[in-house]
This record gives sequence, structure tokens and C-alpha cells, in this order.
Amino acid sequence: AAIVEHVFHVENVFVKPLCNEQMIPTVNGTLPGPTINVREGDTLVVHVINNSTYNITIHWHGVFQLKSSWMDGANMITQCPIQPSNNFTYRFDITGQEGTLLWHAHVVNLRATLHGALIIRPRSGRPYPFPKPFKEVPLIFQQWWDLDVGLLNLRPAPLSDAYLINGIAGDSYACSKNRMFNLKVVQGKTYLLRIINAALNTHLFFKIANHNVTVVALDAVYTTPYVTDVMVLTPGQTVDALFTADQSTGLYHMSISPYTSAHGIPVPANNPINGLIVYEGATSSSPASPLMPEMNDVATAHRFSSNITGLVGGPHWKPVPRHVDEKMFVTMGLERLSMQEAYFYNISGVYTDDFPNHPPRKFDYANFKVQTDNDFKMMFPERKTSAKILKYNSAVEMVVQNTGIISAESHPMHLHGFNFYVVGYGFGNYDPIRDARKLNLVNPQLRNTIGVPPGGYVVLRFIANNPGVWMFHCHMDAHLPYGIMMAFIVQNGPTPETTLPPPPSNLPQCTRDPKIYDS
Ligand code: C2O
Repeated sequence: AAIVEHVFHVENVFVKPLCNEQMIPTVNGTLPGPTINVREGDTLVVHVINNSTYNITIHWHGVFQLKSSWMDGANMITQCPIQPSNNFTYRFDITGQEGTLLWHAHVVNLRATLHGALIIRPRSGRPYPFPKPFKEVPLIFQQWWDLDVGLLNLRPAPLSDAYLINGIAGDSYACSKNRMFNLKVVQGKTYLLRIINAALNTHLFFKIANHNVTVVALDAVYTTPYVTDVMVLTPGQTVDALFTADQSTGLYHMSISPYTSAHGIPVPANNPINGLIVYEGATSSSPASPLMPEMNDVATAHRFSSNITGLVGGPHWKPVPRHVDEKMFVTMGLERLSMQEAYFYNISGVYTDDFPNHPPRKFDYANFKVQTDNDFKMMFPERKTSAKILKYNSAVEMVVQNTGIISAESHPMHLHGFNFYVVGYGFGNYDPIRDARKLNLVNPQLRNTIGVPPGGYVVLRFIANNPGVWMFHCHMDAHLPYGIMMAFIVQNGPTPETTLPPPPSNLPQCTRDPKIYDS
């Protein structure tokens, strides 16, 4: 195992993917930022030098951070931010996982421009559980607002001016007509596409004209090979897929388009955003285009999200926990329903009647509830994050019910520090008797981010075997201020090996002005 070292200069630079030049914070001056390549078992050391005007943390999205939760980079959860003109060095081991992840800033909406690929390959000498590809290609999908990133909060959630593929807006946009991300391929060769949805707020469909791909990993966990012509990624999700240039020599668009199941939220009818696959020796000049799904094609999204299974017996696979120590039921949703309507029609889940401080009493089994924007807590906001304390090594089952009544949409829930098994996934209200019988305890997906289907639920299981404080939140940035966010506090185990070490001596400290740390 090696020590892989990077220096991240966080600095404001001017870029112009569309019509207006914008000043944005970047790492080392590029959008997306640098790709990190490691092997499983390596130690990653990243020196972050903050020359920008922003408070910064960097989160290693999906990395287990075994006994290194101080390095998780969750602003005000595991550290105070690195202030302008300050430095911090992240140092941690990468163990027990392989595939494609991402790093991103974890302070307000700065991850819009501060992000990049984090690629974990097998230890030297260990093969992939699929044929070795000819080449590997990171594809990072991004969202772009054609104004200063500091104003992002003023925009309605899903609206943006463009989507980018590896920093390039492509030919669908006025000021980007002649620029497109190009992938040159050789006929007959197979490429490993390492696909990352780094968009702030939008689920994205992805298709390549006239070609199928074979999914081999999700969120850096190997899957049973799954052949498909379309995929959907929520913000924060990654897909590793094999693409073989098996069609006639020519030009083919690879395209992304937004997926939103939210009704009543205005989303502009974007044309697909294109990159280009160029076969060696291609003579034609008009690319074939894929037919993208409708923006609200829940069925296609659901098929892709639910059909892929874990690679039982593959590298790093561990059996699903059979017993559960902690059961939790979480409801969430951004209700477009007034409290008075909820009261009048006796609809639960919109508010709790526990003001000011009584424990919730809506559910049978002991749990907590993620806030909704109509509940008392949002009307009298408290500066705190709900937390759930877990005993070391406890087996946790969490039912996440997406209770949106009027404008339900898929919420990509992301857990820091762990992968979870998606043992249940469906529409309607989860029934603890009927649906519990249908849980997949054999070959479920194991991953760190899952889109909870609109008007549906997921059932997640994980073993709390990593002491520290770990966020669980919606990866649509616009939803964090609504409170779709909580934290697990995993207690120490009985031995020194299972105890959280003290923080590094140079961990950034907070100053006393609370305005600075709003996140
Ligand atoms: Cu990718 Cu808490 O984030």
C-alpha cells in the first residue's frame, strides 16, 4: 500500500462555460477539480490550502473513514471549516472498498464547483471482477448557474441554467455551440465509464445513442453485471459501467437530461445535454442522438434503480445482517400542504404536536423524525441537528418513508461513513408486516446514496461499526435548509481498536461569530 499525496489550492478563478464569465471557487483552478487515483489499502493525504474567500471543508463522499471520522469533512458536524488563508491536511486510509466515488466541499452550496472524482482501484495484483477495460474514463455531470455561485441560494431548487459534462456545457447552449466533451474510441474496445452525478440538485438520466452499457458497480460497490440502455443517477450517486464501441464507425451523442418526479415544481424543458463519442476513423459529421426519457419518467427511473443486485461473493462483499438491534422509521418530504389542511383532514406527518420539547409520539417504535418545512421546528427554528445515538456494532434498520402528499419527489438520502444495504424499495406506505416479508436479505444493493421513490419508501440496513458522528441527509443541496438532515452518533466499542482516536492537533477551530458557519 502506498501513500498518495495531493495539494488542493482552493482559489477563486474566472470561468466561462456559458455566456457570462463567473468567478467561482475551484481546486487548483479547474472545473471539475483534480481526479484522485488510489488503490484500496492506500493512505490518502490531501493538503488543503484555502486561498479562496470562502470557508471550506472537503468531504470524501462514500469513503468509510474507519476510525478517522475527524477527516470526514462535514462542516460543523465533524470539524469547523478551514477559513480563508488557513490550511488543513486530511489524512486517512482507504480500506474495504473499490470503485468510483467523489470528493466535494461540504459547506453550504460550494460543492457546486468544488468537486472531483475519487477513484479507488484494487490492490496491485488483484483484478477487477470483470474483464479488464482498454481505458477508463471519468464522466462528471454538473449543474451550472450563469451567475456568481454565492447567489445560488436565491434560485429555486432545481432550476439551473445548464448542465455540464466534465465542465463543458455542450452544443445545446447558445454560448457553447462549438464545444462538447469528446471521447475518442477504437472500434471493438471496451471502456470503463466512471460516472459521477455531481449536480447540486438534479437527478439525471444518461444514455449513449445506439449502445448498451453494462453496469458493474454502484457507489463503489460491485454489482451483478446489468445491461441497460439508460441509467439514472441522483446527486451524489456514481455508476461504473462498461461501454464497448461495438457499432459502426461514426459519431454518437452521450446525453444527460434531468429527471424529476416533482409535480408542480417548474423545471425548464432542457434539451438533452450532449457529449460526443468519436470512433477512430469516423467520417460522418452528424452524430446519432439517443431518445431521452421524459423528465417525469418515474417508471424508467424505478426500473434502473431497483433491478440491480449486489455481487454476492465479490470483493469486499459481506452478508446482509439478519437480525436488527435498532429499528427506526423516518418520514420525510417537503410538503406543499398547509398545517391547517393537515389538521383539518387529519393527515399525519406534516407537523408534530410535541411543541416545545416533548418526544414525538407518532410512531410505534422508538425513533425520530426528520423535520418538514411545515412543522413547528421550522416555524421556530432551532440551531441544532437531530441525532440518534447508536451502540457500537449495532445492526440498524431504517425505513425511510417519502411522505410527500402533494408534490412528492425522489429524495437521494446519503449516509456518511457507511454503506447500507437497500433491503426494501417500493411505492406506497411501508407496511411493517406485509412488506417486511419481502425484504431482500440475499443480494441487495449496497451503497451510500439511494433515491427514496416519490410516494414510496426504502428499507436500509447497516452495521454501526465505526465510531464517530455521521450525517444522514438528502443530497439535493436545496433541501438541506429544509432540515432533511440528521446525524448518527456511533459510540466507541469495548477495545482501543474500536475507539475513536482524539482529533488531529491542527483540526480547524471555530471563531465565535456564528454567522460565519451557517450551513
Ligand atoms: Cu456528498 Cu454529506 O455529502
